[in-house]
Amino acid sequence: MHFLVTAGPTREALDPVRYLSNRSSGKMGYALAAAALAAGHHVPLISGPTALPAPPGTTFLPVTSAADMDHAVRAALPTADVALFAAAVADYRPRQVASHKIKKNAPTLSLDLERTPDILGSARAAGFRGLLVGFAAETENLLPNARAKLLRKGCDLLVANDVSQPETGFDHDDNEVTLLFPNAPPRHLPRASKQALAEIIVGVCSQLMVPSPP
Ligand code: PMT
Repeated sequence: MHFLVTAGPTREALDPVRYLSNRSSGKMGYALAAAALAAGHHVPLISGPTALPAPPGTTFLPVTSAADMDHAVRAALPTADVALFAAAVADYRPRQVASHKIKKNAPTLSLDLERTPDILGSARAAGFRGLLVGFAAETENLLPNARAKLLRKGCDLLVANDVSQPETGFDHDDNEVTLLFPNAPPRHLPRASKQALAEIIVGVCSQLMVPSPP
């Protein structure tokens, strides 16, 4: 099968030398890509800027901004069987990108931001009929917020991580997640390496792709 994976942060330019971004390292998404490859799948990996080497064997598609990632995902979705959206996509970007470096002339500076495309949220409307897997990074009300995202974005599986914990989530080697399904009870996966969790998540996706007997 084709397992499309998004990973890492996006960068939203403010001026020629500055951007808005987040602390995603890409470790979770790259671990998913490696696990899907090891399971024998084709893996297009669409990644924002990270310090990680692309897992050998993936079709590596580097991008910078949310708009770039949106374009790359739309191009790759028609051939994907499973789409795993582990990237931490910026929700807002500067409405105007300054053509020159912004000068520090004033004591305060306000930024005018606009929404970026919701890549996961538009996958179904773009015609994707495969297995849609979202992630949710929450700092409060983890399960209610994640469940609302699962349903709102039309996902078959949502991987919820509580990113307020000190040793898991963004930029750590370990994670602790809960898998949420539209019509089945949640499954908690206790703290483990992102590689170990990725193998379980890829296995769950493969099981969900097997048609149930009549
Ligand atoms: O990269 P690491 O350092 O290893 O950290 C891993 C991780 C914490 C980033 C990862 O496990 C994770 O939770 N990724 C999703 C982070 C996130 O942006 O969550 P969210 O709740 O803001 O977004 C919900 C979902 O919508 C995500 O699948 C996201 O990829 C997607 N999204 C969000 C905004 C947007 N404009 N387009 C999207 O597709």
